[in-house]
Amino acid sequence: MKLQHLIKSMFAATALMSAAASVHAVEIEVLHYWTSGGEAKSIAELKKMMEAKGVTWKDFAVAGGGGENATTALKARVIAGSPPTAAQIKGPSIQEWGKENVLANIDAAAAEGKWDASLPKVVSDVMKYKGHYVAAPVNVHRVNWLWINPEVLTKAGAKVPTTMDEFFVAADLIKKAGLVAVAHGGQPWQDATVFESVALGVGGSDFYKKALVNLDQTALTSPTMLKTFDTLAHIKTYIDKDAAGRDWNLATAMVINGKAGMQFMGDWAKGEFTAAGKVAGKDFLCVPAPGTAKSFTFNIDSMAMFTVKDPAVQKAQLTLATTIMSPEFQEVFNLNKGSIPARAGVSRAKFDSCAIKSMDDMDATNKIGGLVPSMAHGMAINAAQQGAISDVIAKFMNSTMSSKDAVAELAKAAKTK
Ligand code: GAL
Repeated sequence: MKLQHLIKSMFAATALMSAAASVHAVEIEVLHYWTSGGEAKSIAELKKMMEAKGVTWKDFAVAGGGGENATTALKARVIAGSPPTAAQIKGPSIQEWGKENVLANIDAAAAEGKWDASLPKVVSDVMKYKGHYVAAPVNVHRVNWLWINPEVLTKAGAKVPTTMDEFFVAADLIKKAGLVAVAHGGQPWQDATVFESVALGVGGSDFYKKALVNLDQTALTSPTMLKTFDTLAHIKTYIDKDAAGRDWNLATAMVINGKAGMQFMGDWAKGEFTAAGKVAGKDFLCVPAPGTAKSFTFNIDSMAMFTVKDPAVQKAQLTLATTIMSPEFQEVFNLNKGSIPARAGVSRAKFDSCAIKSMDDMDATNKIGGLVPSMAHGMAINAAQQGAISDVIAKFMNSTMSSKDAVAELAKAAKTK
């Protein structure tokens, strides 16, 4: 080729490339707190799918289980007038952000994808602010699980517990065998996670709803609440001395490695077992937290979209929302995350026995009034109330506070506006 031609064709190629770049150079910044092994694998699938659609992914990951640090980072960015394109926000706090007038309307994606028809109403209602979709749900986590290493049980001569009494029998045997009975991380949100499962087991779903959803003072100060704290105090005696500040996934690792027998945790814990190549029903067991077989505490993760000016980014937000709601994404994300799809129409074929149990139990508990929002995971009450309640629980876990005093403080904290 003559030099002149070569230069000409090089120019043409460059022009083509930059045209392609200007079409594809849309960048979205996504805030989340999915940084553990299983979580990182899950969110990577969304990144991959968005990049395949020509959208550049700017990861805004803020480590810290339960998302407290992520919320702090989000507030700072919104106050500074530069919110991310999307953020992992869920439950009633979607309404709180909606009131600030910072969320974007994604009705166009919802209408095209027929979201109203493929989401249970309990889910779609949460994703809307004043009747308009502002967030897309990625999953449904169940919180009231107990994760068990069956080898540890066998070594200790213990049986899978279904009631609190059986749980303490198993815990005693594991302790006697020289292992940690209860893997736990001493962080307020983890303390609250155990607490709500215990409250559910001790009092049942009606009590749970009255006390932790409606914040009814009679339920909060009842003998059942006193028993909940007594039970929690008993559980405390099976937690090892190094638990303070430990991340939840490190506690799960103790169960995976056989250092500990059991952990109270939502099914993001399953994401860790799966990432470690462990098989449900064989290497690990998932059973409802003692006494909670007829209840299901749900925790729905979602991506809320923030108002942005650039029309190309607005379009990318709709692409993100559509991708999140696609059956392909809901399948692969939830296989890694430990949760189940939020939408209907996703094949069950690849899901393990824990996920299938979660799907079946969600339906069954819904029919008998046992499907309840997780208080510890921002589904039930506003952030200020949840924070005040979690503080009391954490104080109880980290001191010699009596159950009676804890009940009084809890009832007071529930009055937070
Ligand atoms: C929950 C969240 C899960 C998981 C967990 C640990 O609140 O819904 O997706 O990330 O915290 O960070």
